[in-house]
Amino acid sequence: MSELVVDVRRLSTRLGARMALRDVDLQVRRGEVVAIVGPSGGGKTTLLRGLNYLTPFHGGSVEIAGQRLEPGLSERRDAARLREVRRRVGMVFQHFHLFPHLDVLGNVMEAPRHVLGMDVDACRRRAETLLNRVGLLSHARAYPQTLSGGQQQRAAIARALAMEPEILLLDEPTSALDPQLVDEVLAVVADLAAAGQTMIIVTHEMRFARRVAHRMIVLAEGQVQEQGAPSEVLTNPRSAAGRSLVGRE
Ligand SMILES: Nc1ncnc2c1ncn2[C@@H]1O[C@H](COP(=O)(O)OP(=O)(O)O)[C@@H](O)[C@H]1O
Ligand SMILES: [Mg+2]
Repeated sequence: MSELVVDVRRLSTRLGARMALRDVDLQVRRGEVVAIVGPSGGGKTTLLRGLNYLTPFHGGSVEIAGQRLEPGLSERRDAARLREVRRRVGMVFQHFHLFPHLDVLGNVMEAPRHVLGMDVDACRRRAETLLNRVGLLSHARAYPQTLSGGQQQRAAIARALAMEPEILLLDEPTSALDPQLVDEVLAVVADLAAAGQTMIIVTHEMRFARRVAHRMIVLAEGQVQEQGAPSEVLTNPRSAAGRSLVGRE
C-alpha cells in the first residue's frame, strides 16, 4: 500500500448555526483519484476547503502533504504551516478564478515565480509544457475574459499544476460550463489521473466518476453515507443519497 497523502479524522465544521460536516473520515493514498458526490448542500465544498484550511474546522484533524491541521489555527500565528500546505495542495474551483490582469501564460507562471521564487525562464518553460498538456499553448498570450469557460478551466488546471502539487482538489470543475465544453475539461482530468496525479474531485458527472475515480464517497447532510468502488456504489448503493445517484449517468 502506498502512503497516505490525506488522512482526515472526525472532521467537524460549524457554519453559522449549522453543522456542515460531522465526524467525516477520509483517507487518500498517493496516486489515488477519489470522487466526492452527493446532493447540493451536503458539505462537499466545506470538506475540500477544510483540507487546506480555507474554511476552518471545529473538530477533528487533517493530515495533508506531511502537515497537520487542527481546530483553532490562526492565519497569522500559523502562517508558515498554512503556506506550506497551500503550496503543496492545488485547488481548482467551479468558477476558475484566474487572475484577470494576467494572460494565460502569466497566470500559470505566477505562483512558481512569486511563491517558489523560481527563475523566469524556468517558470516559462514549465508553464509552456503545462499549457501544451492542457491543449492551450496557442492561447498562451490570451487574457482569460477572451476565452471560453472550458479554456479558462483548462488554464486554471495548468496553473494549479505549476506548483507540482502533491494532491489536486477540484470542486465541480465542469458545473459552470456549457454542456459542449464539459468533455474537454474532463479529458484533461482523465489524462492527469492516468499519469498518477493524486486527486479529489467533487463532481456530478457520474459516468466520468465511474470511469476515472478509484473510489467514490457519498457525502450528504455533512456525513459520509457510503463509499466504495464507483461501479459498486452506482450499481448497488446502500444509502438513500447513493440511491439518488443511480440513473444520473
Ligand atoms: N458561509 C456559510 N455560512 C453558513 N452556512 C453555510 C455557509 N456556506 C455553506 N453553508 C451551508 O453549509 C452546508 C454545506 O455547504 P457546502 O459545503 O457548500 O455544500 P455542497 O458543496 O455539497 O453543495 C449547506 O447547508 C450550506 O447552506
Ligand atoms: Mg459545493
